[in-house]
Amino acid sequence: MNRKYRKTLIAGNWKMNKTPSETKAFMTELKAILPRGRWCDIALCVPSVCIPAAVRATRDTRVGIGAENCNANASGAYTGEISTSMLVDAGCKYVIIGHSERREMGETDAEVNAKTLAALNAGLIPIVCCGETLEQRESGITEEWITMQIKLALAGISEDKIRKVVIAYEPIWAIGTGKTATPEQAEEVCQHIRTVVRKLFGSKNARATTILYGGSMNDKNAYELLAQPDIDGGLIGGASLVPEKFVKIIEDANQPTT
Ligand code: 13P
Repeated sequence: MNRKYRKTLIAGNWKMNKTPSETKAFMTELKAILPRGRWCDIALCVPSVCIPAAVRATRDTRVGIGAENCNANASGAYTGEISTSMLVDAGCKYVIIGHSERREMGETDAEVNAKTLAALNAGLIPIVCCGETLEQRESGITEEWITMQIKLALAGISEDKIRKVVIAYEPIWAIGTGKTATPEQAEEVCQHIRTVVRKLFGSKNARATTILYGGSMNDKNAYELLAQPDIDGGLIGGASLVPEKFVKIIEDANQPTT
């Protein structure tokens, strides 16, 4: 991380876990142990039905609530979908876009791009995900794959909006498997992502872009991952469901600025 040039963000992704009642109980526990320091931004991206409970419970805190997906269209006949303006009105600050679990369900790079543009237009902070499969890593095409995903996801974003985008590198082989990328592996790809952003948007914007690592990040391995110069935070699944673990990761982000 490098707090001099960019924000550190510790973000949770609850995926399809917790009910609205459980959300309220979680937030009560979290608030009781939340550190007072302001060394990082904190986000919790929760299932859509939990958003109202999460927003209500965190109103007097610095935890920002986010959604796990959105639809790129403004409104209309899209049964079951949720627009970015609905998320804003519900009190969301963030939205995860292009998570590998959604890409697995058929989400395309073009949709990821359209959703990212829609989120930015609505004033949301998009957390745009990318990541390679184990097969791609073993074939040595990780960098090419990530370059393609980032270029397609960020197409058409204006220079004044790029700094609002958060990028999350989540190697698919490390998600929910307990198999974390080593700090060196994670740093290598996050550094590469910054190089891609530099080529697209210039060095000042690249230096200011927050890049997260996600994939089995937990209270045991977070410190070392966050100590890497190009890893500006985490996108945390399983460990964000337990207040004590999530708070420990937030504490681990309190590191000296290099
Ligand atoms: P885990 O932390 O459970 O591996 O999930 C990572 C993730 O997919 C966050 O978006």
